[in-house]
Amino acid sequence: MKRTRIPGFTDVIQVDDSQEIIDLNRDVRIDRRFDLRWPILNWLILKRALNVLSFGGHRFPTVIARGSTSRASAQAKLGAALDAQAAAVRQGPEELEGLAAWLRSSAADAPVGIAVQQVVGRLFSPTFTATQESWDAAKMLVTAPRSPNVLRTVWWILSGKLGRAKRLLAGMVNGDLAGVNGIGIAAHNIVNSLGQMKVLYSDPAVRRTLSAEEAARRSLMAPVSLLRQASSDGEIRGCPFSKNSLFVLAIGKASKSPGGQSLVFMDDSWSGCPGSRWVPAMLEGVWKRAASSVQP
Ligand code: HEM
Repeated sequence: MKRTRIPGFTDVIQVDDSQEIIDLNRDVRIDRRFDLRWPILNWLILKRALNVLSFGGHRFPTVIARGSTSRASAQAKLGAALDAQAAAVRQGPEELEGLAAWLRSSAADAPVGIAVQQVVGRLFSPTFTATQESWDAAKMLVTAPRSPNVLRTVWWILSGKLGRAKRLLAGMVNGDLAGVNGIGIAAHNIVNSLGQMKVLYSDPAVRRTLSAEEAARRSLMAPVSLLRQASSDGEIRGCPFSKNSLFVLAIGKASKSPGGQSLVFMDDSWSGCPGSRWVPAMLEGVWKRAASSVQP
């Protein structure tokens, strides 16, 4: 845990140890309530993230507080709906052909984003049809909250481009913000995971011997980091924090360390991803479909 505190300017604590992240996420003083407060850098980080990750006056589920009962029940409902589809998608159905074809193809940098968005979007709307425009909107949405190019994000906000991107995505999933998160943000984690899978698949020996389940497990990529904010003064593992200190949980790095795999979806925690069973099943399905088909 590393705290950077300059009074009036910044108070941010970086955490990249897997057990420390698990402990912090269990601590009720560390939350996603997200009050916009000084120091100025904390204010700026949160202002930008909340601006991007809200639509129509409502926050995306990934930036809602742990104590929200409507968040928790929506999380459980979506989790149950996705779990119910896991067994079928694990078999590698026709709808995964676009992804399987991409995995089989030798073009290293062929784009796969639209095909991923299509598969995720169909979870939320039976008529969902991903386009270059909707994928461009998704790229803007995932870049805007964290890009070092702050001025570009400000421009996207002021010019209305970001608002239009969110309106487009929301309109494609009947205004469901879990859906906007899925097709706009989470889809990028799937793209990254498929990139990892392609490295495995391109080795003929690995392709022949690795089970689909193990291929999916080895491919999973977590988001780079998650934000939390302290709701009171305190201390954790010898590191003091103040009310409103910001925590950056670097799960991308920590999930790769021994014992860190559960961080990919923040399993067994109040903030656990509702896609934690469907996503690995879908990746398994892609591997199975690609590996079992006749090679052209
Ligand atoms: C490789 C793919 C994915 C990864 C690695 C991933 C990872 C995560 C993680 C780490 C969280 C916890 C955020 C936090 O603790 O603040 C989360 C939350 C969430 N994820 Fe995923 N996710 C993926 C795909 C998906 C998909 C496809 C969907 C929707 C279909 C989805 C929907 C959600 C939602 C709604 C939440 C918020 C849960 C809540 O706190 O109420 N995710 N995801």
